[in-house]
Amino acid sequence: MRMLIAGGAGFIGSNFVRYMLEQHPGYDVVVVDKLTYAGNLKNLDIVLADQRFSFVRLDICDPAIADVVRGCDLVVNFAAESHVDRSIEDALGFVRSNIEGCWRLLDACRRTGVQRYLQVSTDEVYGSLTASGRFREDTPLSPNSPYSATKAAADLMVQAYVKTYGFPAIVTRCSNNYGPFQFPEKFVPLMIVQAVAGDFLPIYGDGQNVRDWIHVADHCRALDLVLHKGRDGEIYNVGGECEMKNLDVAWRILDLTGRPLSLLRMVKDRPGHDRRYAVDCSKIKEQLNWEPHWDFDHGLVETIRWYRDNGAWLDQVRSGEYREYFDRHYIHRETTLTH
Ligand SMILES: NC(=O)c1ccc[n+]([C@@H]2O[C@H](COP(=O)([O-])OP(=O)(O)OC[C@H]3O[C@@H](n4cnc5c(N)ncnc54)[C@H](O)[C@@H]3O)[C@@H](O)[C@H]2O)c1
Repeated sequence: MRMLIAGGAGFIGSNFVRYMLEQHPGYDVVVVDKLTYAGNLKNLDIVLADQRFSFVRLDICDPAIADVVRGCDLVVNFAAESHVDRSIEDALGFVRSNIEGCWRLLDACRRTGVQRYLQVSTDEVYGSLTASGRFREDTPLSPNSPYSATKAAADLMVQAYVKTYGFPAIVTRCSNNYGPFQFPEKFVPLMIVQAVAGDFLPIYGDGQNVRDWIHVADHCRALDLVLHKGRDGEIYNVGGECEMKNLDVAWRILDLTGRPLSLLRMVKDRPGHDRRYAVDCSKIKEQLNWEPHWDFDHGLVETIRWYRDNGAWLDQVRSGEYREYFDRHYIHRETTLTH
C-alpha cells in the first residue's frame, strides 16, 4: 500500500504519519506539504530516515500534485490553513488552500483512480451550539468563521465528487485536538507555553466558550479505522466526549504548572466566537467500535511534559513570524478584565 498524506508536516498530520508507520509496517508513506508557518519537517524527524517514508514539498493547489498522487492507493488530506484568528485577519489563503487545494487534490485522485480519499474536517462546520444538544452527522452546516466556511466548502466538494463521479471518499469531522507538536498559537499549547514561561494567559471574552477536547492520538486511531473500515460517501464525527470551558482549561494548566491565577488576562473576544461545540460520535462508536482512550487530565499532564521537554522545537517554531503574530494579536489586544 502506498499512502499519500497531504499536510503531513503539521500538528495532526505528523502525529498521523508516525502512527501509520508504526501500525502498518507494510505501508509506504509519502507526505506532501507546502511547509507554511505551521508545517515543520522537525515534526517528522523521527521518520525521516525510514525507508518507507518520503517527502515532497509542494502546494496542493499546484497542478503538479497529479504527479505526486499517481501510484498512491490511499490519500488523506490534512492540508489546510487551520487557525480561525488568522482567517479573520485575511481569508484568502484559506480559500486557496482549503477549497481550491482540496479540489485540486480530489480531482487528481479521481483521475488517477485512488482506492480511497479521506478528507479531515472539523466540527466547526456545524457552527455553534447553545447550552444543550450535540452535533450529529446530519446537523446542517452553519459555519461562522472564514476558516470553518472554507472547511465546509471542501466537505461539500468531496460529497459532490462522491455523488457525481462515484468517487470513493469519506469525510471525518473532529472536535478540538491537543497533544504534542501543536503549533503554539492554538489554545492549549498557547496556555501551556505562557504558563511555563510565567507569562500572562490571554483568554477571549468571558472564558465561558466550551470546546470538546480530544487527544490527537485518539483522533489518529479514528482516522486509521475510518480509512480502512469506513464506508464510502459517509461522514463520521469524532469527539473526545470531554466538554470544557476555556477558563477551566486555563485554570487546570495553571494548577498543573504551579502558576498563580493572577496570570489570567481576559482580552477582547474574537469576533463571531462560537459559544459551544459538542460532538455526538455514536456513529463511529457503534459502526467502527472506536472510542476515545485518553483522559483529559492525563493528556494535559503528558502534553505539558512534552512542551517542557522540547524547548528546542518550541524556540524554532516561535522564532520570527510567530513572535510578530503574537504581539499583534495579544499584546495590542484590548484587555477587558484582569484577575
Ligand atoms: N487542530 C484541530 O483541533 C483540528 C480539529 C479538527 C480538524 N482539523 C483539521 O485537521 C487538519 C490538520 O489540522 P492541524 O491542526 O494539524 O493544522 P496545522 O496548521 O498544524 O497543519 C496544516 C498543515 O498543512 C500544510 N498546508 C497548508 N496549506 C497547504 C497547501 N496549500 N499545500 C500543502 N500543504 C499545506 C501546512 O504546511 C501544515 O503542515 C486541518 O485540515 C484542520 O482543518 C483540525
